[in-house]
Amino acid sequence: MPTTTTHRSPAAGPLGLAAANVPFTLAGLDLPNRFVMAPMTRFRSPGGVPTAEVADYYRRRAENGVGLIVTEGTLVGHPSASHETTVPRMTAGAAEAGWRGVTTAVHAVGGRIAAQLWHLGSERRPVDGVEAWTPSGVGGHAMSTADIDTIVAAFAESARVAARAGFDAVEIHGAHGYLLDEFLWPATNHRTDAFGGSPARRAALPAEVIRAVRGELPVIFRFSQFKERDYQARIAQSPAELADILTVLADAGADAFHASQRRFWEPAFPGSPLNLAGWAKKLTGLPSITVGSVGLTSTLPHMSRLTEGLTTGEFDLVAVGRILLGNPTWARLVTENRLTEIRDYDKAHEDVYF
Ligand SMILES: Cc1cc2nc3c(=O)[nH]c(=O)nc-3n(C[C@H](O)[C@H](O)[C@H](O)COP(=O)(O)O)c2cc1C
Repeated sequence: MPTTTTHRSPAAGPLGLAAANVPFTLAGLDLPNRFVMAPMTRFRSPGGVPTAEVADYYRRRAENGVGLIVTEGTLVGHPSASHETTVPRMTAGAAEAGWRGVTTAVHAVGGRIAAQLWHLGSERRPVDGVEAWTPSGVGGHAMSTADIDTIVAAFAESARVAARAGFDAVEIHGAHGYLLDEFLWPATNHRTDAFGGSPARRAALPAEVIRAVRGELPVIFRFSQFKERDYQARIAQSPAELADILTVLADAGADAFHASQRRFWEPAFPGSPLNLAGWAKKLTGLPSITVGSVGLTSTLPHMSRLTEGLTTGEFDLVAVGRILLGNPTWARLVTENRLTEIRDYDKAHEDVYF
């Protein structure tokens, strides 16, 4: 045992981030540490089929300290899901084989990987004659109850394929103003049937999706207050409204919540320091993942807040997005205290492959 050292122990990491280097079990899935790669769309799967380059990209994060990867948004198998041709799909043609290559590569280095399942809702452009599908016709076709059944079935089919392709979990994309979030948000959901009205009823379609995919794999549900088009938007005005929504989703079988914020250190509601992931865990008792501007520079701003949240159990896991684009080894560099090797985040990294 060394008795003196002038260096911080690599195991402890900088600023006490040892808290992130602790194993965690998520719905029976053993994770080596608390670092999650946040889902990030990359437009590199021609025809919706992930290539060997995609497999290599995720493998490089998995072998360098990311405990759980959440893939870029992967489209469910319905024409209304998206107009994009280079965003990956789950059920189209060779997509399953492509994803099998990705999961095999990640597992070969001891990593874990969840597939994020996505439907764009009103954000789908009607470029090829297919209208966007929406809860109430705000920005596209108002979905009938038969349409709702169709979309629930599309999510279920994608989860079945994800399980066959070797994924360890699925994440349902219910955030940022896309279809499921448009049901959660009163500004876009004006329905008067069982899928609209109170916060709990607005959660009915996302809950049906969870019910339809559960049993295949552990289910993470991602949600947010903000929309990409409206940073001030809110699905819940109070902790009580959030409780109504999340309770419906938890009862439907969600295993964990991924609470998307733009800045993880911001309190979600006045009167309490808890962030959105903190509230999700407090209100449901389920594990939660925080995210939002973690470590964007090598000085690791706000890291003590992160350590505090992990240590106190306010939230369980931390997702890291943009800084991993330019730094595939970021989680390793942080835990080994090699901060000078970190490339500060630069928007140009979104278009470069590291
Ligand atoms: C290029 C890019 C693509 C993204 N694509 C997705 C996506 O497909 N699904 C999703 O839920 N969030 C997506 N996000 C949001 C990230 O998952 C994450 O929540 C956000 O970047 C904040 O985390 P960060 O500050 O660590 O980057 C994307 C973000 C970026 C920068």
